[in-house]
Amino acid sequence: MKHALFTVLFVSVFTVTSVSAAESSVALPAPQKTGGKPMLEAVASRASASGLDFPSGTISQQDIATLLWSATGKNRASKWTIPFGLSVEPYVDIYVAAKEGVYRYAWQDHSLKLVADGDLRKNFSSQGFVATASHIFIFVTNKTPLRNKGGSPQHWVKWTYVATGAMTEQLYLVADSLRIGARYAETMETNYVRQTLNIATDEEPVCIFALGKR
Ligand SMILES: Cc1cc2nc3c(=O)[nH]c(=O)nc-3n(C[C@H](O)[C@H](O)[C@H](O)COP(=O)(O)O)c2cc1C
Repeated sequence: MKHALFTVLFVSVFTVTSVSAAESSVALPAPQKTGGKPMLEAVASRASASGLDFPSGTISQQDIATLLWSATGKNRASKWTIPFGLSVEPYVDIYVAAKEGVYRYAWQDHSLKLVADGDLRKNFSSQGFVATASHIFIFVTNKTPLRNKGGSPQHWVKWTYVATGAMTEQLYLVADSLRIGARYAETMETNYVRQTLNIATDEEPVCIFALGKR
């Protein structure tokens, strides 16, 4: 009897744990590389989604894969979808806050690596639309690849900001093409971001980008 009770308890605890825990590495589907809205039409219609009426639909894993690849994916041998100076590997990381947890996008194998378990979306900003977004992308500098090439701290900072601008603009256009609403925001709970993502002191969370399916 005692043995049977222990078995039931053990199985229930194990089952609950394995259902609630997010996977530590998630392989993403191949990104969409054809179709969508013609590029000039996306430029003509690009706009930030209103923070007061932010689209609340859930974005599919297929579209998340396409968005991340557009922002910082490999599109040739040793080159990426946005220009990185001197073809240095990406020096801005994208973290993805989703219902299941918070992940870092690994462009190397087009996968998501778990950083924190659970739904933490509402904690990243005091702005209401961020809490209701399907996914939040958080842009954080990662200057190691630049440092390895030499140069000065001023030059590394400038390059990370240029890259963040290119990445977020590309995201705006691809989001528009996929009928996804997007909004750039500098406002964020920086200390919470630093703690949760375990950001090195000499790196910087630059902005967040909220996304929701229209
Ligand atoms: C550098 C920058 C910082 C921004 N910060 C915020 C922000 O903290 N919160 C917010 O709701 N929108 C923010 N936005 C969105 C802008 O308010 C929005 O892009 C601007 O009103 C122009 O509208 P459009 O993107 O539709 O052209 C930011 C945009 C940029 C470029």
